[in-house]
Parts: sequence; structure tokens; C-alpha cells
Amino acid sequence: MANHHLIINTDTPEGTINKNIYGHFSEHLGRCIYEGFWVGEDSEIPNTNGIRNDVTKALKNINIPVLRWPGGCFADEYHWKDGIGPRENRKKMVNTHWGGVVENNHFGTHEFMMLCEMLNTEPYICGNVGSGTVQEMQEWVEYMTFNGESPMTNLRKENGREEPWHLKYFGVGNENWGCGGNMRPEYYSDLYRRYQTYVRNYGDNKIYKIAGGANIDDYHWTEVLMRESGEFMNGLSLHYYTIPGHFWKGKGSATDPRESEWFITMKKAAHIDELITKHSAIMDQYDPEKKVALIVDEWGTWFDVETGTNPGFLYQQNTIRDALVAGLHFHIFHAHHERVQMANIAQTVNVLQAMILTEGENLILTPTYHVFEMYKVHHDARHLPVSISSEDYLFEDDSLPQLSVSASKNEAGEVNISFCNIDPNKEASLNISLRGLKEGISEAYGRVLTASGTNAHNTFENPDNVKPETLKNIKINEEELTVKLPSKSVSIITLR
Ligand code: AHR
Repeated sequence: MANHHLIINTDTPEGTINKNIYGHFSEHLGRCIYEGFWVGEDSEIPNTNGIRNDVTKALKNINIPVLRWPGGCFADEYHWKDGIGPRENRKKMVNTHWGGVVENNHFGTHEFMMLCEMLNTEPYICGNVGSGTVQEMQEWVEYMTFNGESPMTNLRKENGREEPWHLKYFGVGNENWGCGGNMRPEYYSDLYRRYQTYVRNYGDNKIYKIAGGANIDDYHWTEVLMRESGEFMNGLSLHYYTIPGHFWKGKGSATDPRESEWFITMKKAAHIDELITKHSAIMDQYDPEKKVALIVDEWGTWFDVETGTNPGFLYQQNTIRDALVAGLHFHIFHAHHERVQMANIAQTVNVLQAMILTEGENLILTPTYHVFEMYKVHHDARHLPVSISSEDYLFEDDSLPQLSVSASKNEAGEVNISFCNIDPNKEASLNISLRGLKEGISEAYGRVLTASGTNAHNTFENPDNVKPETLKNIKINEEELTVKLPSKSVSIITLR
């Protein structure tokens, strides 16, 4: 058992953890939108206006603050006017990026906005720069947000929506260095300046404009965008996926039990810290006041698809390893709270690192879902500085810190401390000194998500194999806590 010591200063919070880092991303990809959210009004699966009740119920429980849609790569091929009006008249198209399947456009702007209203979440819409026109983008924003006399307002009303929607977050293209048009940063930067000009604020609706950002460590992209267009944006995105293998030559199985796969996954997940640090350093040069946010609007694990499923559908299982990846990302986002103002995991249902998997009328919650649920307490809480002396998790001739910890304080004065013990073999014994408490600790309550094997996951036959349990044996001694964290676990302790 490894011993660790932690000091938390509870009276000197530094900044706020924006709840939007707990955001989501849902694309017209595989079974995310269709089957995952949308089953249609005539489905036997219980639904409200076509949207599955079980999925919305589960998602309401994790308080999704913001939801990005319709893509992804799909966004730069999406023509929003195909997805409005009577459903039976909507144009069908081929979803070239994702399996070449027919997209019937039954889930469009009205359905997405309805979903956001049901979930009480902020919509984040990604517009089409790659194959769409400036006019198309301008009219979409007008259609959604304008209340005056105009062709788009009239069209919206004809389609049954009298009042405009509130829309804050709008992305001007997606991955324009790749599926969004294979552009050079200089070219995209100019296009960004042009397109965003026509993304108007109508009435009281103020749009927060997000420019398509870099892939992984493409620092040149960030440099050019910030230098040439920084003054025209509120946020700049970054995409980074945790892939244990190789993107083209085999990413690795989602349920591989080998420790080598576990270790490399943890290492690659932790790498986002370096990426954020380096992209932020470039942003600091052009924007020392941190007016432009870094928006990590695609992140998560990306494994090989499950055997027998459509390779274009990106359907993968989700294990305790994914839970650790999620916990590590959140701690890193918390630490970068000054620059990182939003993050969107890819993707909410049935695709990549999903919260929910469905099979017909059945649904399971994944270990990743449980991390989002446990970490709700960090939403919009004040970030507390933490100092940790952690032993290392050693694997072959490499190592990583065994523990990752993050703490916050909410409005009621409760302190929440979350922990990732990434060692798949060793428990961690932890001594925590809490500085600056007015009174001692009166109550400490903990929950833990762990499992017996590194590939433990939930199935439709055994949906509760991995789920949070009470964390036992938390010992309080005035301003000190001692606790034991099981191997491969994500835990949270609330102090009152
Ligand atoms: O999330 C899957 C895909 O990954 C998205 O469509 C794209 O933006 C990224 O390459």
C-alpha cells in the first residue's frame, strides 16, 4: 500500500470551475442521435415528442450544462434547412463520414432545441464552414434567434415555433484542418473572420463565438488563429482523443485487460495537461487577459469498434479505465480553470466514450456516466489549491503519479475532494491536512467507483457491475482526514 500526503487550503480559493467543462457532444454519427436520443413519436420505446424518456431521465441526473451538435465532421456537411418543416418532406442525405448511411433529417433544429429544453442545457451549435455558405450560416442564426419581421422568423413560425430560442454558443466550423475542409490555418483564419461577421446578435441574444481550433499539438494552428483572428472570437477549440494504440493501425480494444494497455491509456489521458499548457501559453501571448477561452469541445477515449458493429458507427464499450480517463481530464480542466471554460466529451450516447449505451428499449449507464454524476458537486464551485506528495505508479521502466486530486468549495461552504487512483494493483493510503477551516470537520461522506478487473464494465445482462459505492473508513481527526483509496478507483469526499 502506498502512502500519500495532501494539503488543501480551504480558505484561499483561486477562481471558479466553469460547469461547462462538464459539457457534452452529440453528433449525427452511428446510434447517437438516432436510437440514442431520437426514436420518433410512433416508437414503442417510451418517448416524449420522439425523444427517449429513459435517456433524458438519466441525463437530467448529471445536469448536463451544455450540449454540442450536430457535429463533428457531420457539421461541415450539414445543411440546416434540410432538417426543418414537416418530417415526411425532409430531404434525405448520405452521411458520408459515418457509415454512408441514409440521414433522413428527422432530427433537426427544432428537435435539438426541444432536447436542450428537456435537459435544461445550453445548446452549442456548430455551423458549416466546409461546405456551407455565409448566407446559410447567417440565416440559421437568424432563424433561431430573431424575433422581428424577417423571412427566417416567418419560416420558423410557419414551422410551429413562435418565440425565438435562446442560443449562446455557436461554433464556426469543425476541424477545418481536416474533415471540415482540409484548410491551412491562414485560410481558415480568414474564412473565420468572414463567416463570424454574419453570426449576428439579434435582440438580447448574445452569441459566444467559438473558432475551430487545433488538433492535438498543432501549435501553429493556435498561433495563427490567435494572431490573425483572436479579436473576433470568444473561444478557440482544441480536440484531443485518448487512443492507446494508433489512429489508423489499430486503436486498441475498449475491454483489453492487459496492464500495458491500462498504463498507456493513463499516460495518454494525462498528456492533455501538456497540450493545454502549451496551447494556453500561445494564447497568453496574444491574450494576456484571458478573454478568449480554450474550449476542449472533443475529448475522450477512442478505441476500436466492438466486434460485429459498423466500423463507421464508433460504438465501443466503456470500462473502469474510461472512468479514470474522465476523472483525470476533469482534474486537469479544473487546474486550468482560468483558460479552459468549456469541454465536451465525445459522445453522449452509443458513440466513443459514451455515458449511456442502448440496445432497443434497454439502456445501461457506463462507468463514465458515474464519474459525471459524482463530480456534479464541482460545477461552478471555487477551485481550491491542493499540494500533494504522491508516490508513483510504476510500470516496466516508466511511471506516473499514482494519485490525481482536485478540490473545490461550493456556495454552502462544503468542500469536495475528488481522487483518481490510477494504479490497477495498489491501494493508496492518504493523509489529508485541511488548512483554513473555521471549525473542524463535522462530517465526511465519501463515494467510490472501482472494480475488480481493469476491463470491468456494465452490460445489458449485468448493468450494475460498476457503480458507485460508499467509501468506508474515512477517519476524521480535527483538521486531518485519513482515507484508503482502492486500486483503479475514482472517489469523492464531501466535507461539511
Ligand atoms: O467524434 C468523432 C469525430 O472525431 C468528430 O466528428 C470529429 O470532429 C473528430 O475527428
